[in-house]
Amino acid sequence: MDITNNKSFCVYAWTHMMITASGKPVRGEYWPCCNWTPHADTILKDKKFDVKNKTIKEFWQSKEMNHIRERMLEGRPIPGCTACYQEEQSGTASLRQQENEGWVRMKEGKTFWDTVDRWEKNKICDSPISLDINFSSLCNLKCRMCFSGLSSELAKEQWSIIQKEGWEVNHELMRFQTDDLEIIDHGDNTELMKQLYDLLKVNRRIYLKGGEPTLLRTMYNFLDYPVNNNYAQNIQIKFNTNMTNVQKQFVKLMDKFRKVDLTMSIDGIDAVQEYIRAPSKWSSISKNINYFIENNDKADLMVSPCWQIYNVFNIYEHLKYFDKLCEKRNIEVTPILLDFPMHYRIDVLPYEVRQQAVDKIKQCFKLKIAKQPTLYKKLHTLLKILMNKDSHKDSKKHMKQFFKITALYDKYRSQSIEKSLPELYNHVTKY
Ligand SMILES: C[S@@+](CC[C@H](N)C(=O)[O-])C[C@H]1O[C@@H](n2cnc3c(N)ncnc32)[C@H](O)[C@@H]1O
Ligand code: SF4
Repeated sequence: MDITNNKSFCVYAWTHMMITASGKPVRGEYWPCCNWTPHADTILKDKKFDVKNKTIKEFWQSKEMNHIRERMLEGRPIPGCTACYQEEQSGTASLRQQENEGWVRMKEGKTFWDTVDRWEKNKICDSPISLDINFSSLCNLKCRMCFSGLSSELAKEQWSIIQKEGWEVNHELMRFQTDDLEIIDHGDNTELMKQLYDLLKVNRRIYLKGGEPTLLRTMYNFLDYPVNNNYAQNIQIKFNTNMTNVQKQFVKLMDKFRKVDLTMSIDGIDAVQEYIRAPSKWSSISKNINYFIENNDKADLMVSPCWQIYNVFNIYEHLKYFDKLCEKRNIEVTPILLDFPMHYRIDVLPYEVRQQAVDKIKQCFKLKIAKQPTLYKKLHTLLKILMNKDSHKDSKKHMKQFFKITALYDKYRSQSIEKSLPELYNHVTKY
C-alpha cells in the first residue's frame, strides 16, 4: 500500500496505545497516543474508554478504533489527530510522521503490513506491541509550564492558590480541576495489571512518563515482570524523567532490556532549572546525571529541554553544559518548543525582546553539540520564531498573563524572576 501522500495514516492505530493517569471523571483513559487531542475528538468522546469502564481489548477492538483505522486508510482526517496535523502545518515533523518513518526502520516494520492485511480481513487487530503508560500523576516537582493533571505537586499548589485567591485566578493557572487532586497508581489496579502483563508477551516497546515514573514502586514491579519472564530482551523501554531520583535499582534495571532510551527533562542549569522546575536542586541533578553515566553504559541518553520564555536567554549555557558532558558520553538534545500554555510561548515575547535573544542563540552554533541534526534543525526553527515580526495576534494579552502567573508563583514559592532570571527580567520589565 502506498501511503506517501496519505495525510491521515498512522502506524500507531495498529500498533500502539496509551493509558493516561488523568482524565475526567475517571483517572485513566485509553488514548490512541500521547498526542491525542481530546477536545477536538468526536469519535472516542463520551464512549467511556477508560480503565474503570472498559478492558484494553474492548478499547483496542472497538468499532470506534476500527472507524479510526478505516478513515486513516482512506486518507480522511481524524479530529483527535489535530495536534499532529497542526505540527505538520507549522513545518515540524509530527509524531505521526516520525512514527510512520521510524517504524520502517524497526524490526517489526517488516510485518506491519501483515497486521493491516489481517485486520482488513476480519476487523480484529493484532494486540498493540507498543504501550505508552502514565502510571500516575505522582510527581515531586511543580514545573511552571506543566499541567496539574500530570503533577500531583502542581495540583496541590494550584488548589492552595485558588483557595486563597479565588477561582478567577484559574484563568491564569489555565487548567486546574479538583479531579487533579486525586492521585491514582495504575500499578495498584490488579485487573489492569493482569491485562498489561499479558500484553508484555508480545510487547516490543514500553514508554513510561508520568508524573515522575522513577518515584513509583509499582513501576519497578511492572518492569520486573518481563525481566523475570525473559521478555525483557525483546523490549525497548523509553523513560522521561526529571533526574531528581536516580536510584541504584533504577540504573541496574536498565541493563536488562533490549534497548533503553532515557530522556532527561532538564530545562536549564543552576538557577534557571531551579526556577522553572521547583523544588529541584541543580547540584543534585548534575550529580545524578554523572552517577547514571558512570554506572550504565547501555542506555541511549537524551536531554529534552522545554524551550519557553523562561529559558530563552539561557539556552546557550544549557547547551554548553551538555556539550562538555558529551566528551564523556553522547547525549542527544531533543528540545520541545513549548506550544501551550500560550503565556509561556516564546513567540509571545515582544519582537524587540526576541531580537535580544537572537545573538545568544547564534552563539550556540559554535558548540560541537549543535551539529546534532535534531538540535541543529530546532535551533533554526527557534531563530525563525525569534526573527518573525508577525508573531501571533494575541501576544499582548498573553504577555500580561505571563506577568501575572509569574508574580503569582513567585509569591507562593518565595522565588524571584529578577534574581533567578536577571537577563530576561531586564528585557521584559518595561512591558
Ligand atoms: C509531563 S513530563 C512527565 C515525565 C517526567 N516527570 C519528566 O519531567 O520528564 C513529560 C515531558 O513533558 C514536558 N512538558 C511539561 N510541560 C510541558 C508543556 N507545557 N509543553 C510541552 N512539554 C511539556 C516535560 O518537560 C517532560 O519532558
Ligand atoms: S517533573 Fe515532569 S511531571 Fe513533574 S511537574 Fe515537571 S514536567 Fe511535570
